[in-house]
Amino acid sequence: MAKHKICIADLLARKASGPKIVAVTAYDVTFARLFDEAGVDILLVGDSLGMVVQGLDNTLPVTLDEMIYHARAVARAKPQAHIVVDLPFMSYQISVESAVAAAGRVLKESGCEAIKLEGGTTVTPQVAACVAAGIPVMGHLGLTPQSINVLGGFRVQGRTPVAQDQLLKDAQALEQAGAYALVLEGIPSELAERVTQAVTIPTIGIFAGPHCDGQVLVCYDMLGLQPKRQFRFVKRYAELGLATIDAARAFVHDVQAGQFPDAAHSVAAESIRE
Ligand code: KIV
Repeated sequence: MAKHKICIADLLARKASGPKIVAVTAYDVTFARLFDEAGVDILLVGDSLGMVVQGLDNTLPVTLDEMIYHARAVARAKPQAHIVVDLPFMSYQISVESAVAAAGRVLKESGCEAIKLEGGTTVTPQVAACVAAGIPVMGHLGLTPQSINVLGGFRVQGRTPVAQDQLLKDAQALEQAGAYALVLEGIPSELAERVTQAVTIPTIGIFAGPHCDGQVLVCYDMLGLQPKRQFRFVKRYAELGLATIDAARAFVHDVQAGQFPDAAHSVAAESIRE
């Protein structure tokens, strides 16, 4: 039987009747296949790849070509999951035209289904223009990593009543402009609950408490791939970093001790004679 591809209508329906939406970042075909097998709803090709794959200090240097390279690899998994790709810093902020051009390249060249961009009322013209051009847009509010230089670092947002009211207005403006979902990152649980109740599109939280319509995690964090990168808001579902070090140590040992390759992992000339 053909697999059902998760579409925007499915995600919108989940706001009303659940179960909660599960999203995880993916940057390559192998992880995309594994997460799809596990029943994840959304694969997010996040610009967090700049930090966890490229070793950058923040996401600002990531380019559109790099995003498209990773998005293509994820799309090759042909997942049931809906695939969303981050527009990187400065690919959409300058003008509405630059946003539509960047988003159009992502969909045309990667085969993914939607884009995500950061910001509220300042980017609603970009959101509306992309949607009008046939490009679904996910919004991203709160701790928006592309704005760390304005926010003063990776800091929890929505700390004052004024900031909370502004975030709520931004969420409603994004919905009005045609966004089909919102990532809420690094805000108090109560504010995330308020926003979730105020909009008809699903909210997907990361360090935003339990009241959102879904949750997203960076896969390297969730899997413990970088043992020293531990955040309070991340639940680690595996310790693959430590498991990888152990496995590599065992390989080093076996090669140096002459225990690998053994007969079982080698081919003898007589076994392949015609
Ligand atoms: O880039 C990313 O991985 C993200 C998530 C943290 C939501 O935007």
